[in-house]
Amino acid sequence: MSHEQDSIFIRNFIGVIGMLVGVTILLIIIATVLYEADTEGQRELAIERAERNLAPVGEVRLTGEPMPATMQQASAEEASDEPRSGEEVTQAVCIACHQGNFQNAPAVGDQDAWGERIGKGWETLVSNVYDGYGNMPAQGGSATEEEIRAAIEYMVEDETGLEIPES
Ligand code: HEC
Repeated sequence: MSHEQDSIFIRNFIGVIGMLVGVTILLIIIATVLYEADTEGQRELAIERAERNLAPVGEVRLTGEPMPATMQQASAEEASDEPRSGEEVTQAVCIACHQGNFQNAPAVGDQDAWGERIGKGWETLVSNVYDGYGNMPAQGGSATEEEIRAAIEYMVEDETGLEIPES
């Protein structure tokens, strides 16, 4: 190879390398601009996803403890559409315990069992159901106050014929 050919080769070689370096820098700049433009939203999204993935699958709720806030919110949203009737609430929420005197829960329509309790009056009964009472966990997360009142009216007054005094 002659000197002349050598220098042509070196010149072309340097030219090609230079071009590649230029393209690389250009790509880095484009990537940086694109990344910067979207990091804020993406970071928030990533944090949100991570939090969702790390959240516990379930929570243990002990007797008398209120519902976890997330469940309260979910059921309040569900319930906010239209209040359910007393019978609907009873069947959906209360019947699990108030059918066979589970843990001393007075059964729907059981005159003797309810007779001992109704003297407390409406206000106390509703708030005891909403906040929880004795062996009954708080039902405030599963039904609104209005629905609880309707359910009590159904399972006590309608089904036993007893009348709960106002308090
Ligand atoms: C997880 C079981 C359970 C569910 C669900 C439940 N209850 Fe109860 N409830 C009980 C038990 C147990 C008692 C008796 C509590 C005690 O005296 O220790 C009780 C008592 C009551 C009392 C009497 C409270 C008092 O002050 O004497 C009312 C009223 C009542 N429940 C209404 C309801 C209504 C309405 C619902 C549905 C919205 C409901 N319960 C859902 C278990 C339950």
